[in-house]
Amino acid sequence: MAQHDLILLGPPGAGKGTHAEYLKTDMNYMHLSTGDLLRVAVAAQNNLGKQAQTYMEAGELVPDDLVIDLVAERMEQLGSDEYYLLDGFPRTIVQAEALAEILEGIGREQPLVINLAVSDAEVVRRLSGRRMCPGCGTIYNVHRDGLDIGDNCPQCGGELYQRSDDQPEAIRNRLEVYKQDSALLIEYYRQRGQLVTVDAEQGQEEVSAELAQLARRGRLY
Ligand code: AP5
Repeated sequence: MAQHDLILLGPPGAGKGTHAEYLKTDMNYMHLSTGDLLRVAVAAQNNLGKQAQTYMEAGELVPDDLVIDLVAERMEQLGSDEYYLLDGFPRTIVQAEALAEILEGIGREQPLVINLAVSDAEVVRRLSGRRMCPGCGTIYNVHRDGLDIGDNCPQCGGELYQRSDDQPEAIRNRLEVYKQDSALLIEYYRQRGQLVTVDAEQGQEEVSAELAQLARRGRLY
């Protein structure tokens, strides 16, 4: 069972979504992925989706105010007996400060922040091979699972597709964008004693085991 609120930081392809899925299912976390919420808004072509689409397809960050509103709305609905797992948020210092304020406002402690560290070469390899199921959201990889675009999802039968931002140019841009903001963000959480780094270049099972241990152990300070 979940015992501590968590943030997963890391470059695109670090495994945030993959491991969040495990922590949600096995440890009962409330998984909040800003990328997933934004993709739903884009698919629905609602007001937020129309504003976010161009940024996302280019691999740029969606403006802070839009994403902060989205997260604030979800956090305010959080039950006192629920633990959350933030995936893809915060991505800037402005977002980190807004989150700290939201948490203070709802009387929650500051979360443990897990930095999933992985090399650029591995990011490119993973993202170019990533395949998604539109039905159940399961994340696959051509290199590991041998499943490709158009194949059926073994879990639910959905037809696998490739995310539009997993094209080479968008991947390169996302990595650049990540590097611009991440050093400051990592330093922000290090100074507050909230940060722990995990070697996410390891296999999925090894990373999962480390994350589960951290989630159970809870606070670092
Ligand atoms: P978002 O959806 O958050 O994408 P991202 O951060 O670029 O991360 P990814 O989802 O690409 O990677 P992941 O770390 O989840 O990796 P995964 O588990 O899939 O954001 C998308 C866009 O939305 C942004 O570009 C931006 O425009 C916007 N956005 C979102 N949040 C925002 C915010 N806060 N502010 C502003 N804009 C925002 O794994 C990747 C692949 O690797 C998979 O195939 C998986 O099977 C495989 N894999 C995972 N772990 C391992 C392992 N250990 N070994 C081998 N393979 C592995």
